[in-house]
Amino acid sequence: MIFQAQITDALAIIGLASSLLVVTSMAKLLIALKRHGDFGSAITSRPPRDAYKSKVFWITGASSGIGQALALHLSSNYDGVKLILSARRRDVLDEVASKCKKLGATDVKVLQLDLADHASLPSVANEALSLFGRVDVLMNNGGVSTRSFARNMGFGTDKFVMDVNCLSYVCLTKALLPSWEGPVKEGHDFGRSVPTIINTSSIAGKVGAPVRTAYCAAKHAIHGWFDAFRIEQGLIGDPINVTNVVLGSTKTDVARNALTTSSTTTFGSSDANIENGLEPDFVVGRVLAAAYAGQAEMWVAPRKELLLLYLTQYVPTTARKVWAKAGVQYAVEKIRRTSFTVATAVRRTSFTATKAIRRASFKCVES
Ligand SMILES: NC(=O)c1ccc[n+]([C@@H]2O[C@H](COP(=O)([O-])OP(=O)(O)OC[C@H]3O[C@@H](n4cnc5c(N)ncnc54)[C@H](OP(=O)(O)O)[C@@H]3O)[C@@H](O)[C@H]2O)c1
Repeated sequence: MIFQAQITDALAIIGLASSLLVVTSMAKLLIALKRHGDFGSAITSRPPRDAYKSKVFWITGASSGIGQALALHLSSNYDGVKLILSARRRDVLDEVASKCKKLGATDVKVLQLDLADHASLPSVANEALSLFGRVDVLMNNGGVSTRSFARNMGFGTDKFVMDVNCLSYVCLTKALLPSWEGPVKEGHDFGRSVPTIINTSSIAGKVGAPVRTAYCAAKHAIHGWFDAFRIEQGLIGDPINVTNVVLGSTKTDVARNALTTSSTTTFGSSDANIENGLEPDFVVGRVLAAAYAGQAEMWVAPRKELLLLYLTQYVPTTARKVWAKAGVQYAVEKIRRTSFTVATAVRRTSFTATKAIRRASFKCVES
């Protein structure tokens, strides 16, 4: 009898726990869809204005899009922040730096780098450390997407995309690691807090998205490497906050700069998803809130993409079907574009032909 009562109690507890789980999941989804961001990122509040006083941010990919937006956002919304801005285009970085200074950043330095050139990165990292004596927050953000079927893309491009979007993040992290470990050096304590790494991943880091094979591989790898690394650092007693940012379509030059068949040919135009994407300033605000709250991962994306992410998490088989459809849609769009080009060519040719015939017949009449 007693045994039966215990079973009934256990079943009641399981029932209650399952209902709670369903209710929380639904609440998470609703909040997420309302705010374009997952539950964690949607409820974290903005860090206080003095949160980054005297903190040194090193931002890669600062010449454009999300990196640039972060630099400007930090400069205007936080007191006493120090910035190191990196990318390949020095002239553009100089312009961003002067905007940051006007907006109130305490000190801004420009440090040119090429994320594909791994051999140079350790010495660039040393240079970064020498600028302010340390780096508190490393924003691994520089990157390049793709818009090409894998079968049309040379292996060199696969490697290049993985080098830039993932291995460079590992390389810079390893180069800074000695400065973050061990006892605080005399005169360099700065009330030293746990260092932070923010990695810009993507929805392509969670699902396989067509025409972005190498990009997907690189972004997925960020999660694997840095999730393991975060645990290791905790185990050895030198913790590092790592926030992996799963980002959906955001209005930047990412599609325009995306590589197609080789590492020198770019897509050259934006696409509808990116054009209708989130504002970079909104995105970086959420990123900072998540990193400040010590979140290991945060999602911020337009509603439809967020819904796909939730589907991928909870019902992966259905999600794969939806993604496959997205692939079909891409093919349809490509065919539409091709036929448009063909139609234009035909129209132009027939126009030229008509003109030529008209001229020829004129000549006939005249002679
Ligand atoms: N926008 C989106 O919808 C979206 C979605 C998910 C994830 N992301 C990720 O967000 C990050 C930023 O991209 P974005 O959207 O801001 O695109 P973006 O406007 O094209 O900016 C890319 C940045 O990366 C830098 N970069 C590219 N290749 C580099 C290299 N070899 N060495 C050094 N810097 C390099 C570029 O600077 P230089 O050309 O001056 O070198 C630029 O500052 C990327 O990691 C991207 O994958 C974007």
